[in-house]
Amino acid sequence: MERKKLYIQTFGCQMNVQDSEKAANLLRLSGYEATDDPQDADLIIVNTCSIREKAAQKIVSQLGRFRELKARNPRLRIGVGGCLAQQWGGGFFRKAPYLDLVFGTHQIHRLPEMVAALEDNRGRQVQTDFCDRVASLAMLARPEAGAVGTFVTIMQGCDNSCAYCVVPILRGSEQSRPLPEIIREVNLLAGQGIREITLLGQNVNSYGKTDAGGPDFTDLILAIGEVARIERIRFTTSHPKDLSPRLIASFGRVGALCEHIHLPVQSGSDRVLKRMNRGYSAEEYRRKVGALRAACPEISITSDVIVGFPGEEEQDFAATLALMEDVRFDNLFSFQYSPREGTRAAGMDGQVSDETKRRRLQVLQALQADHTLRKNESRVGKIEAVLVDGLSKNEPAEITGRTRQNRIVNFPGDPGLIGTTVAVKITQAFLHSLRGRREGQGGEYVH
Ligand code: SAH
Ligand code: SF4
Ligand code: F3S
Repeated sequence: MERKKLYIQTFGCQMNVQDSEKAANLLRLSGYEATDDPQDADLIIVNTCSIREKAAQKIVSQLGRFRELKARNPRLRIGVGGCLAQQWGGGFFRKAPYLDLVFGTHQIHRLPEMVAALEDNRGRQVQTDFCDRVASLAMLARPEAGAVGTFVTIMQGCDNSCAYCVVPILRGSEQSRPLPEIIREVNLLAGQGIREITLLGQNVNSYGKTDAGGPDFTDLILAIGEVARIERIRFTTSHPKDLSPRLIASFGRVGALCEHIHLPVQSGSDRVLKRMNRGYSAEEYRRKVGALRAACPEISITSDVIVGFPGEEEQDFAATLALMEDVRFDNLFSFQYSPREGTRAAGMDGQVSDETKRRRLQVLQALQADHTLRKNESRVGKIEAVLVDGLSKNEPAEITGRTRQNRIVNFPGDPGLIGTTVAVKITQAFLHSLRGRREGQGGEYVH
């Protein structure tokens, strides 16, 4: 029997990437094989995101292009999943009448039966209920063949209520995966050649919180630190208010835990942080950064910032720049505030004009570019442990990997080194990467 073809396009965060892999795994059992050409597909699934208005707009215009394919191939079926699907539910059919399928963030496991119903011509399918236990949390994603690092989902949903954020509305409340199940998956991945694990969740450091007396996030890190052949552990995203002294102390103590933390601050102004409902002050954030650097002087710290949150005045923005000067982030992701339906901030007074948001973003990004470059330059002359993960994108004769601090390094080397950790002397620094050469050609770098 000829296998049917599935094309999946993923928008949004890594959580959606994992969910797309799970969906593809499930549908393989229903006879669908992945294709990277949408023109070839019998079924197209778009995994959607709603974090900012722009994300939603991009998805709607992409769907419009798939609609044209359907005009040429009436057998083609188109479905949407993920956060925008959760938000709009059956209303998605009104906005895009050519859709056949809408599945929410808790309903991935229902895909096979929903697709079977489509094949039986039983009409459009929609499922967006929330479940007490999200079945897909226990499913395995499938890293690309030859991958060196991968993500492992440890929890889903979020119990915080940051005033700007749709995630708790669209992913539901926090659910943690049992520790033994996570360890089983990590062992399996180690056996398949994976050397680096990034633990994934909306708020990873509140892992286990809903199971009083059970293991917490630090326990999980310690347990993964014991898994043979896992050389590196990272995690994303952690919340400053839940960053415990015990977790801070694990940096520099757990050999596999990389010297990097992504710790979104969102703003440097106490007034704005309060309106955002973040649960910490700028001073508390500075103190946590101090504690991290005391425990692990080499730690690299990256963050997220939103500019133009309702009520943000010039002096609040100046406080964010001041915090950046004090902390000196290794890298920063910055966004213009985008009002989202159903969030508290969308109804707040003091909405900031687009022009002001744009200007503040430019100023902030210029400052960060300077900091990032200087941080990168400070690595020149150092010998770094680089886990090689592939061929260099721009220089086919070179290979590429990451330092423990998560910087990209390109250097001349044999593709046979992919999957190993080698010592590389850093010779040049750029904004987005470093260059280097292998130090001492003998054997693998032992951390
Ligand atoms: N759970 C993570 C990630 C949330 S989404 C966390 O708590 O950090 C990633 C980033 O998108 C956030 O850190 C925030 O900086 C940004 N973001 C979320 N909602 C936004 C909105 N409405 N407008 C602009 N940026 C937003
Ligand atoms: Fe959104 Fe805040 Fe939860 Fe992150 S912690 S997902 S920003 S509500
Ligand atoms: Fe987007 Fe949902 Fe992730 S809104 S960022 S896909 S959790």
